[in-house]
Amino acid sequence: MRPQTRDLSPRNPEMSLYGSRPSRSPIYPAAVYHCDSPEQAELRLSGKEPGYVYQRDKHPNAQLLGEKCRQLHQAEVAYVTSSGMAAISTATISCLAQGDHVLLSNRLYGQTCVLLEREFSRIGIEASQVDFLNEAEVESGIRTNTRMMIVETISNPTLRIADIAKLANIAHSAGARLLVDNTFASPAVCQPLLLGADLVIESMSKIMNGHGDLMLGCLCASQQCDPEIRDRLASVLAVWGFASSPMDCWLAERGLLSLFPRVATASQTALWLAEELLSAPQLKEVIYPGLPSHPDHDLAVAEFNAGVADPHSAPQPMFGHMLTFRLRGGPENASRFIQSAREIPFCPSLGETMTTLSHPASTSHRSMTAEVRENLGIFPTTIRLSVGLESPDFILQAIRKGLVDLDF
Ligand SMILES: Cc1ncc(COP(=O)(O)O)c(C=O)c1O
Repeated sequence: MRPQTRDLSPRNPEMSLYGSRPSRSPIYPAAVYHCDSPEQAELRLSGKEPGYVYQRDKHPNAQLLGEKCRQLHQAEVAYVTSSGMAAISTATISCLAQGDHVLLSNRLYGQTCVLLEREFSRIGIEASQVDFLNEAEVESGIRTNTRMMIVETISNPTLRIADIAKLANIAHSAGARLLVDNTFASPAVCQPLLLGADLVIESMSKIMNGHGDLMLGCLCASQQCDPEIRDRLASVLAVWGFASSPMDCWLAERGLLSLFPRVATASQTALWLAEELLSAPQLKEVIYPGLPSHPDHDLAVAEFNAGVADPHSAPQPMFGHMLTFRLRGGPENASRFIQSAREIPFCPSLGETMTTLSHPASTSHRSMTAEVRENLGIFPTTIRLSVGLESPDFILQAIRKGLVDLDF
């Protein structure tokens, strides 16, 4: 006889909510779901009938979060992945095949370049980099086999802005798709699909979740992205094992509730800080897209917040939470600044509730030669700030403490 176990499945009335509707999503950590019959299993696994079978294929928390991302980007479909890199992998694996070429902006996140240049070259996909700020260079970088172009809305750490509509036109005329990494902007600031991009990814490990306590990514596709690719995204995500954790999805859904007010506050503070820092004699350069002196300021005004219709959105354009400056003097000033600006942790990530700083030359851009870095405008004394939710005065005082003892 089979041993009797207490049935704690959700079908058990003991576990029902008696019709009550919770105001927040439940968490469904189940790795696997019961099937009533082989026919039902077949229908669910083939996607002909809604429902869940195995967490790696799909699960309710990823779908709840994915639907929020879809709405934020006004996308046709959206999927949640285990990290931002998993979202980039899902997009590129779905769109590229052996013999294809992908054109990369020369200002991309380093790991994206490693994936496309080092890993993909082993499976016969070519990649090359050009300056995406230079239209002629982009045009001449296109090859007959170019199937994808990849750019970031706001680049790291010099905060240059991609002209998404123009790049989408170039990609489409060449029969390629434009993938935009929108991590530094978030959908609160920019929605690249509305500007013509085919695919957009976000590292939700950053400002979208905003609390620095999880790793996730999301991948959204526009209506113009062909149905074959849109369907393949879900399959690639499942079979390559890029699925997300239900717990992380639930946390990110909570983080998203405050996305707009968080980005609005951080953007306002970042603009104020940038304006204040312009007169600091210790700084050689202050970079913020909201400053009229920024080389892409007009483009940022035109592109940012264009399609945002959120009750929390700020009346004036938001330019994001990232702010970069360059100290005067020698490389030792970077260490001095970091030691003295103690209230701002040196924490090479971004998008948390607290302000953090990074030193690109020794972290995100350390694998480049000094010459390549300098050509991109990254110097040994370049400091990148991810502005948080503290009072603007607190952050300014913390920066000023860092500037006091510099030699220049
Ligand atoms: C611009 C950008 N894109 C993608 C990623 C990758 O995201 P994740 O760390 O969630 O894989 C990062 C991570 O720092 C990033 O800065």
